[in-house]
Amino acid sequence: ARHEPRFRIGVSQCSDDEWRHQMNNELLREALFYDEVEIDIRTVKDDNVRQIEDIRNFIEEGVDLLVIAPNEAAPITPVVEEAYDRGIPVIVFDRKILSDKYTAYIGADNYELGKAIGHYVANMLHGQGNVVEISGLTGSTSAMDRHQGFVSAISPYPGIKLLAREDAGWLRSEAGQKMDTLLTHFPQIDVVYAQNDRMAAGAYTVARQKGRAGEMRFIGTDALPGEGYGVEQVLKGELDATFIYPTGGDRVIQIAMDILNKRDFPRETILNTSVVDSTNAQIMQMQTTHISTLDGKIETLNGKMNHYLDRYATQQVVLFGSLLV
Ligand code: FRU
Repeated sequence: ARHEPRFRIGVSQCSDDEWRHQMNNELLREALFYDEVEIDIRTVKDDNVRQIEDIRNFIEEGVDLLVIAPNEAAPITPVVEEAYDRGIPVIVFDRKILSDKYTAYIGADNYELGKAIGHYVANMLHGQGNVVEISGLTGSTSAMDRHQGFVSAISPYPGIKLLAREDAGWLRSEAGQKMDTLLTHFPQIDVVYAQNDRMAAGAYTVARQKGRAGEMRFIGTDALPGEGYGVEQVLKGELDATFIYPTGGDRVIQIAMDILNKRDFPRETILNTSVVDSTNAQIMQMQTTHISTLDGKIETLNGKMNHYLDRYATQQVVLFGSLLV
């Protein structure tokens, strides 16, 4: 029943974490709706050299389209340009490169996201207080843009001080270590702005161990559903707020198929973000739980379809065979 795929899509993920896993699931699920496509996902752990290798291998294997989340912009830019110059369409998503040699970009606007967080913090502090920022990998455009947006929103308030900005590389344990140092340096911290929920969790845990979590509030980003992730961190009161950073894997596949089939497609697709705090975390959780049961049903249905098609195919062979005898 299944044909050889007409198109092969190579996906290069810069990191291996819950956000990437959610996105990968969306990519694969969306691809079930097109039987002519095969998706090959390769993942590194925040490693530029390895990611360049993955992309170069995809180029050599002759994939029809590349989907790339660049770990850090500067080191990954040349290999993306190389693919593009060789005529392979490239969709860049989540993080950007330092060049316009790509076919399409999909992701949220990280500058606007940082700004929204800055406004949220300024409101929360009534224009007065000490903030520390725990940044993602500072060579990733998502980290640079979030920082700049955040600073632009808080800078009109002379009473709000950004005491420090520490690079914790998007990682939980590194964020914990950085938080430890920040706590010894600063006797008064009012807000911890962590650029993702995983780092917020690391910072929170250390602050609690040191008995200081109660004097400060934590803000994160991603707002993933599921056990232990952002929405639950808000429900537990560990995070005051987090902001949705959409994974958008389904959109990536839709646009990839438009490109491959020579249909019109948008060069830039900006995905929406929104705040999750104590006022809406409960309903978020209800809705995402519901959505995940529907996603499960789509996958079950797909399994049944394939089973049916396989049976139908064998029946055809048997029938055909018996006619010959
Ligand atoms: C996942 C992640 C997210 C973050 C995004 C930034 O790998 O670290 O937590 O929002 O990448 O690009």
